[in-house]
Amino acid sequence: MKQILIDLECSGWAVKAGCFGEADALRLQQECQESCGRGAFRPAGVGRGTGLNVRPEIRSDQILWLEPGAFTAEQQLYLAWLEELRMALNQQFCLGLFDFEGHFAIYPEGAFYKAHLDRHAATSARLITIILYLNPHWQPGDGGELKIWTTLGEKEGSYVLIEPRLGTLVCFFAGDFWHEVLPAIKSRMSITGWFRQRQVGL
Ligand code: OGA
Ligand code: MN
Repeated sequence: MKQILIDLECSGWAVKAGCFGEADALRLQQECQESCGRGAFRPAGVGRGTGLNVRPEIRSDQILWLEPGAFTAEQQLYLAWLEELRMALNQQFCLGLFDFEGHFAIYPEGAFYKAHLDRHAATSARLITIILYLNPHWQPGDGGELKIWTTLGEKEGSYVLIEPRLGTLVCFFAGDFWHEVLPAIKSRMSITGWFRQRQVGL
């Protein structure tokens, strides 16, 4: 966790492999797969509020929100870990992060999410994006990398490609870094979410 804080401070983004225990991540992966089998996932939207639309030419993943009050034991384990991270971030950066909202995501074979920022204009409370990948046996060549452009606010120039391997965690300042999910050649699972800040005057 310490390295994540250091990297976030230095560059605004951080990647850590093997961050969350492999056995626990695997249980989340199984849960994700089972929920999908039950038909619980829905096509993800773009935008927010009344402007929220399904736009498969921009993103073609399916999502299932984690429901407060109905967290499973596996989810609670991950959320407890995130809670520690949230408190450490508040302590280090005085961010006033007060909660987390998140969803499972499945990108079926060939699905993608075109370049975007996670923060909706000035109105979004989402400050930090956190993604945990849930794909055992991911191989180079399977695609589905997360591409993050590493220059603040730029959608060109230098970038990193992150493989969505089981237990790898990525976090970054949601409004600062353009990013995209490249098409994968097999189904790709994750939990994606955001630490939120209280909003003043909205
Ligand atoms: C998102 C997103 C990236 C990923 O859901 O907003 O950018 O690697 N996800 O799943
Ligand atoms: Mn995103």
